[in-house]
Amino acid sequence: MAPALAIIGAQWGDEAKGKIVHFLSREADLCVRFNGGPNAGHTVVDEYGVAKLHQVPAGALHSHCLGVLSHGMVLDPWALEEELAFLQGQGRPAPKLLLSERTHLVLPSHRIKEEKEGASSRLGTTKRGVGPAYADRVARRGLRLLDLAHPHYVRERLRAEFDVVGGFDVDQVFSTLMNFYQKFHERIGDARVALSQALASGKTVIFEGAQGTMLDVDFGTYPYVTSSHTTVHGIPWGTGVWPEFSAIVGVVKAYTTRVGAGPLPTEERGPLGERLREAGEEYGATTGRPRRCGWLDLVALRYAHAINRFTHIALTKLDVLSGFPEIRVAVAYRIDGEKVEEFPACSWELERAEPIYETLPGWQKDIQGAKEFTRLPKEAQAYVRFLEEVLGVPVALIGTGPEANSLIVRGELS
Ligand code: IMP
Repeated sequence: MAPALAIIGAQWGDEAKGKIVHFLSREADLCVRFNGGPNAGHTVVDEYGVAKLHQVPAGALHSHCLGVLSHGMVLDPWALEEELAFLQGQGRPAPKLLLSERTHLVLPSHRIKEEKEGASSRLGTTKRGVGPAYADRVARRGLRLLDLAHPHYVRERLRAEFDVVGGFDVDQVFSTLMNFYQKFHERIGDARVALSQALASGKTVIFEGAQGTMLDVDFGTYPYVTSSHTTVHGIPWGTGVWPEFSAIVGVVKAYTTRVGAGPLPTEERGPLGERLREAGEEYGATTGRPRRCGWLDLVALRYAHAINRFTHIALTKLDVLSGFPEIRVAVAYRIDGEKVEEFPACSWELERAEPIYETLPGWQKDIQGAKEFTRLPKEAQAYVRFLEEVLGVPVALIGTGPEANSLIVRGELS
């Protein structure tokens, strides 16, 4: 059976999944995005420079690895062309891509709808039109990649969309879509069949989650969520294959961040939060917005583990915690005077949660770029072990800086 690895954000997104996926795809044959669209921002730092990927799977930066954009995504053709042009400008070889014919398109009208609905101010969305594109999909009025082979249908749909939304040039959008199809039609196909064959023939496949468990449309802090399935359950839903996973890796940042609105029990609004933001360069890769920052939340992480059944943890940005005299981790909440250990399903309840912290000693030594676990200060080792004990999951990888090689590898994953 082929190794199939799932890489899943365990928090509110921005866990530095890009770096982990890029590392784990060194020897992978395929790297698959199964959810989200241009709202994602996966940063990879390598010999060509800094790539902020939005729709191209991070593994596809390795020239041997086929990047698959499966139907659980929504695809913005304009943004994809821009992203590919940026990567080409960095002198990279063109990524090999396969786009699922069933993937729904994000159209200019979707951004207009998002603005009109006020979703960006209400929920703090990334304003990429992702929510309205998913909404049109379930409302059965979306355009899919395979429709681009049928120009009369595309024109009809665009006209109908214009009648409702207005604000865009139908002819211009139509001709851009036709040009896109002209350029990409050979890379559009049945991704489910390709994936199924790859798995059956023993190829290594990495499934790259976008956003994080707490932003899942069902399991996250609804309504302050994205519009897709960000957990491991999103994989069969968004690809049509049901792999036997050799590893389900939860990517956990050593502290907590969130962009956009919604509850965040461990948020630090004062100087501590500011310090984490500056040390961790916590500004959105897609929107540049400052991220809200706070301590690690083990109530949320236990919940993320219950949903995803992680086999391993990749702990990222541990170096950012260097220099804090002490480090806090939330082990439970107090809600309306009651101690609560389960993550509440209701955001209105979660908004009232006050974290109950356990305090661990900090370390002063700068650990940026560290590659060996045993050389970390003992307090940093203790922090990692504490997390392992609470979750009952081994920490296999530890990120110690933005560069690809700033990584401690503690165990093989496949
Ligand atoms: P949308 O996905 O643009 O609709 O935004 C919905 C919520 O998900 C907002 O709070 C966004 O900030 C958040 N979000 C969407 N994509 C990402 C991401 O890649 N990282 C972190 N937050 C995200």
